[in-house]
Amino acid sequence: MGDADTTSQKKNDLPLTYADYLKLQELLKCQRMSSAMHGPPVHDEHLFIVTHQAYELWFKQILFEVDSVRELFRSLVLDESKTLSILNRLNRVVLIFKLLVDQFQIIETMTPLDFLEFRNHLATASGFQSLQFRLIENMLGLQEDQRVKYNQQHYMKVFNDPESIQLLKDSLIRPSLFSLVEKWLERTPGLQVNEFNFWPKYQKAVSIYLNENFLFPAQKETDTKQNETMMAEYQKMMDTFQSVFNPETHQTFLDRGERRLSHKAFQGLLMISLYRDEPRFNQPFQLLTLLMDIESLMTKWRYNHVQMVQRMIGGKVGTGGSSGYQYLRSTISDRYKVFLDLFNLSTFLIPRKYIPPLTISMKRTLSVLSNEQNATSDDEACNEEENEHPPRPNGEQEKENVLFA
Ligand code: HEM
Repeated sequence: MGDADTTSQKKNDLPLTYADYLKLQELLKCQRMSSAMHGPPVHDEHLFIVTHQAYELWFKQILFEVDSVRELFRSLVLDESKTLSILNRLNRVVLIFKLLVDQFQIIETMTPLDFLEFRNHLATASGFQSLQFRLIENMLGLQEDQRVKYNQQHYMKVFNDPESIQLLKDSLIRPSLFSLVEKWLERTPGLQVNEFNFWPKYQKAVSIYLNENFLFPAQKETDTKQNETMMAEYQKMMDTFQSVFNPETHQTFLDRGERRLSHKAFQGLLMISLYRDEPRFNQPFQLLTLLMDIESLMTKWRYNHVQMVQRMIGGKVGTGGSSGYQYLRSTISDRYKVFLDLFNLSTFLIPRKYIPPLTISMKRTLSVLSNEQNATSDDEACNEEENEHPPRPNGEQEKENVLFA
């Protein structure tokens, strides 16, 4: 055994300490105040550094979690055991984001005048150069063409080192969480024509809902002015629903960036939301709710950051060279919402009593009971005719029960 090996052996024999394990010696030496290099250290610069570093550490954890969620989604069959891990990790991301949103309060204890004491030492350094923040945006699926241009430049231009540039490029090539969720929604059981065939049933249900609640009351109205208003409201509702019924119209919304999900995925999203009470849709619905929470918290992060920036520098330009407050404010819009359709979904929900009843086989697919238990409970619950297609042999039924397969 050579010398080097003996040394490492000796080192390994020492009991591992807290500091060694966490590499605290290195970590806690990373808070070097630039003000101290030019004169007396400015007290608040320490807070400024620690705050940014804490954010970056949590960004790292978010990337780690979202990346693992993407891997779980990528596996061919997504069974319930994986869904639980996905839910757990996404929930963790939600909690981290909540912490990050609240954390701005701490840096806000620094006054703008104190910030001015060391701001010039930051030179051109800016949060705009946060690689991990861009990776989070890309990993979630922020569309490139939706980004607000920064000084008419692509955001990648601020990164000079090849490693960062490669990581950013990779993050654009690898499937985003959005695209994986979209594919998953497209496979929602019940959408297929030879299955429950949800879409025409939903359209019929909407038509009954609109007639009973808008058209018929408007037709009964004798006051001309009131009648016109009610008919206009009915027409508006019709147009809104038509925009989602018609794939071409849906495409124009996609082209304008006002919707993001494919037509098929949108149907899956609606189906899960309407039948969320069915056992096998409980977890998918929770997953969609968590994605909305993440999106919402990301927007809150942007909002809290911009509020703090205005408080700190008012209308001054940013150290990264942007207009500062004005630029940041423009990022708090729907353009930056990756899962925008989840937020707009409520437009297309209909009251429970209009939701098309499930057929027996669909009810069985969405149940958590075994096939034998299902067979004995087939007589109850469903008040609609059975699907034209006979129940499948046991093996196939099992496969169908694995949601998202
Ligand atoms: C006194 C505190 C802060 C001020 C005055 C400030 C100011 C700014 C300004 C003006 C920008 C726009 C780019 C530029 O021209 O520089 C920016 C962007 C950014 N800052 Fe901060 N910031 C502060 C704290 C933080 C903290 C604590 C974080 C946490 C990581 C952060 C992360 C970012 C990120 C990620 C961006 C890019 C946002 C985007 O382009 O959408 N900033 N900041």
